[in-house]
Amino acid sequence: MSSLPTIAILGAGSMGGAILHGVVSSGRAGGVTVTNRTRAKAAALADLAGVTSIALEDEPAGNARAAASADVVLIGVKPAMVPDLLAEIGPHLRAGAIVVSLAAGVTIATFERILGPDAVVLRSMPNTPAVVGKAVTGLAAGTNAGADAVAAARGVFETVGTVLEVPEERIDALSTISGSGPAYVFLLIEELTKAAIGKGFAEDEARVLAEQTFIGAAALLAASGEDPAELRRRVTSPKGTTEKAIEVLQEARLDEVFARATDAALVRTKELAAGA
Ligand SMILES: NC(=O)c1ccc[n+]([C@@H]2O[C@H](COP(=O)([O-])OP(=O)(O)OC[C@H]3O[C@@H](n4cnc5c(N)ncnc54)[C@H](OP(=O)(O)O)[C@@H]3O)[C@@H](O)[C@H]2O)c1
Repeated sequence: MSSLPTIAILGAGSMGGAILHGVVSSGRAGGVTVTNRTRAKAAALADLAGVTSIALEDEPAGNARAAASADVVLIGVKPAMVPDLLAEIGPHLRAGAIVVSLAAGVTIATFERILGPDAVVLRSMPNTPAVVGKAVTGLAAGTNAGADAVAAARGVFETVGTVLEVPEERIDALSTISGSGPAYVFLLIEELTKAAIGKGFAEDEARVLAEQTFIGAAALLAASGEDPAELRRRVTSPKGTTEKAIEVLQEARLDEVFARATDAALVRTKELAAGA
């Protein structure tokens, strides 16, 4: 595998930090500079191999130096901070630098307006399993992001999982599935744990049963290459016990529940984008 481009991560917190760890553990990092506000955050990343970690507390112009050092610049600060950060780094970007947003809800148009009409911009929506290298990241190309820029950004996100390229207008919908999705899965695990407690298991036993069932089923899905409906059928013998449970779950119209839940998330995304 070839080396990754030089990378800057401006705001290496939960998400930027997860991507940093993926990039470093890939063994293909071609030089990474990261910034955070506080000295403590910066110090925690300073020992990673090949990483230059800057605290803005010590070096107020650190974002400009980091941006100038990289071919791919990831923007990992909170959405409200993005416009100021872009205005700060714009004059320091290398010619042809690829700017990749991690920020939820900030449009490519905002990036291109602040950085200028020639800026090469992509927008991403990763999810928290990035921390363990199992993210799904939606990636949308801006006006000037051609195949090479998309491939460079894809290479970075593939160090923390799988990448799906979509047009920007699909990013909000994607976010309601994979961005918020880990929370839906954790909720299902919590509810199955409660059911186990209701059947008389101690809390620690209930957690083992529910959590390992989700982890094991997901691993089986990944390893088998089968689709989930087929794997479900293999557990569901005709007239058996599982069939009875599945009937009850289907009566609860989980299809409608998931459609309504993701619709609600989409409405909220639009409200947030409008500043509500
Ligand atoms: N977490 C998720 O599940 C997730 C998923 C998809 C997208 N995102 C996006 O990822 C972005 C970051 O979210 P997060 O959860 O990773 O937040 P976070 O943990 O708070 O990370 C933000 C980081 O930015 C640093 N920072 C603040 N101001 C800065 C500045 N001016 N220049 C450079 N660094 C600065 C902070 O450093 P200090 O702590 O030292 O101040 C912090 O480490 C957001 O835009 C969010 O929408 C997050």
